[in-house]
Parts: sequence; structure tokens; C-alpha cells
Amino acid sequence: MTKGTVLVTGGVGYIGSHTTVELIQQNYEVIIVDNLSTSQKEILEGIKKITGKKPVFYKVDLKNYNEVKNLLKKHKIDSIIHFAAYKAVGESVEKPLKYYENNILSLINTLKIAEEYKINNFIFSSSCTVYGQPKKLPVTEKTPVIKPNSPYGNTKKIAEEILQDTTEPNKNLNVVSLRYFNPIGAHPSHLIGELPIGVPNNLVPFITQTAYGIRPQLKVFGNDYSTPDGTPIRDYIDIIDLAEAHIKALEYLTTSKNKKNFEVFNIGAGKGYSVLEIIKTFEQVTGQKLNYTFAPRRPGDIEQIWADATKANTVLKWKTKRTPAHSLKTAWEWEKHYRTQIVKKSI
Ligand code: UFG
Repeated sequence: MTKGTVLVTGGVGYIGSHTTVELIQQNYEVIIVDNLSTSQKEILEGIKKITGKKPVFYKVDLKNYNEVKNLLKKHKIDSIIHFAAYKAVGESVEKPLKYYENNILSLINTLKIAEEYKINNFIFSSSCTVYGQPKKLPVTEKTPVIKPNSPYGNTKKIAEEILQDTTEPNKNLNVVSLRYFNPIGAHPSHLIGELPIGVPNNLVPFITQTAYGIRPQLKVFGNDYSTPDGTPIRDYIDIIDLAEAHIKALEYLTTSKNKKNFEVFNIGAGKGYSVLEIIKTFEQVTGQKLNYTFAPRRPGDIEQIWADATKANTVLKWKTKRTPAHSLKTAWEWEKHYRTQIVKKSI
């Protein structure tokens, strides 16, 4: 029996596609809206191969409210998970209006869809970037939110404010904002995974592409931080653990367990790893020797952050089950599968 229909915006993207798989496997119907601006349609094939079901898919831009509204007329949607957004930190510094226009307008239109069709369960993709460089670690949901370092990060902060304000007059609307730490890894089937377009900004796809020979060398941005080995520390969370957090958040909302109609949760593993530890773990689990060099710090990078995820552990009854070693292995298997089976050539 179906547990209901979920509109997944950005469902072809990295986190959206893995969450879609979990949703289908948990008997939810999924409708994906994605403009494919930073994702590729082959991922839909992967979702179908894993689940045996191809979700309903509309290639449409959320900035076009009327178009989206009309497409969704024929569906009865129970919940929304809103992933669709640009996320390249560096690009957002160069092109702030592109980020504000896309991320904020898409959110507003998705909220208008929720109001128009009386969809009362809403999950938002937020980020630990809203904490900036916290003074005290680990960060809890009570850690002050500050103005993030980049326009991208600021769109997440502003989005949470928009969501909170929208739930004030609309008491039927229930929102959970999930503040993700650093998602890594791929589906264990290796049929879907992270698929950056062009040169990856994030560490793990850069590592796997370097190991595969697509990039000549990984640059480790800074080894002079005040951390044990000098490289920055992040809370890396497996993509399937992250997808499962969405299922838990959805169950939480659909069974009306929430006490407030706007709630935030940290979604992290609760443990920090340095860049060098990630590189060493990758080498150990894959047997690949990684060519890397130290380079200057990347502007805007914070030194270290990891989560206190106690609230998600206790309230959502969600916990990470997978280690970075597992995630790095699946990321590598996905890279090989993608290169040999999907593109059959290097970019
Ligand atoms: N890094 C390298 N070399 C690379 C890429 C990354 O050394 O080629 C380092 C970074 O300097 C950083 C670490 O690897 O120390 C992780 O970098 P990522 O780009 O993978 O992740 P970030 O922590 O910078 O960013 C992530 C998300 C953002 C989000 C942010 C919140 O990608 O969307 O976390 O902190 F806003």
C-alpha cells in the first residue's frame, strides 16, 4: 500500500536521487520536478534499475510558477521535499544574483505550490553552513546562526527565515529543515551517485576523479589550520544515511509528531575527519594511491565543524549507520561504474 505521494524537487540531483530511491523502497509515490541544470537524466535510469520503478518526472524550472502549478494539477500530493538549489559556494561569490534568484525564487514557488494544493508536510534541504565557523564544537541546533560566508550559504539562512515566517500565519503547514553536514558516498548498487558537472568543487568527487585519472592531482587546500594534522575537519555523512533522515523526517511530519510547525535538525554523524584522514581512508579501502599536493587555503573555508546530532537521534529516531570508509568505497565503485558503463569515456 502506498504511504502517499511526495513531490521531490531536484530529485535527479545527488541527495534528491538517493532520497527518491529510499522513498520508492518505502512505498511512497514520487513525483520529481527538476530542470536538469546541474543533474543528468541517466540518474533516472539508475533509480529505475534499483527500484524497478521510474518516478514521474517533469523537466521544468521551479522559477516558472505557473508551469509547475499546471503540471501538478493532476496529482494529489501529500508532502514536499525541496532539494532543488544551486550549491557551488565559489560560483555563488562570483554570481550572487544567480544564486539568490534561483534558490530563493524556487523556494517561494514551491511554498506557493504547497499553499495552492494544501500540501502540509514540507522538508527543506538546509546546510551546516548557517553556523559559519562556530566558537564551540560540536554544534547543536541552539548554536547561533550567523551570516554565512557565501551567497550560497546565505540563501540557506534566508530560506529558513522564509520558511519560519510562512509557518507563522499558516498553522497547517509543517516544516522540517534538515541542516546537512558533508554528504559523501553513493548507493551500494553503484547505479547512482554524485555526478558533478565539470570540475568538482567537493572533496570526494575530486578524489575519485583523480584516482580514475581524470584529474591529474588533488590539491589539499591548506595544511596550516589549527587542527591535529593541519587540514580542515568536517563531519562526513553517508548519502544513504542522509536519505534515510528524510524518510524519518517525513514520518515525523505525516504522523504529526512535531510540536512546533517549524523545526530544524542537524543531520551529521557527530564525528569530524580531516582532509588527510579522508585521503588515507580512501587509499586504504580502495587500494588506490592518490596523487595530492598541498595548496593554499581555499577562500571562505572554515577550519572545523562537526555535528551534535542528538536531537535527530532522539526526536527523529535517526542515526548514521555507515562509516566514511564505507562511503569512500561506494563513491569509488560509482566512479568506476559511471566511467565504464554510463559515459564510456572520460570528460
Ligand atoms: N577540499 C580540498 N580539495 C578539494 C576540495 C575540497 O582540500 O579539491 C577540502 C576543503 O578545503 C574542505 C574539505 O575538503 O576542507 C571539504 O570540502 P568540500 O568542498 O567537499 O565541502 P565544504 O565543507 O566546503 O562544503 C560543504 C558543502 C556545501 C556546504 C558546506 C557547509 O559542499 O554545500 O559544506 O559547510 F555549504
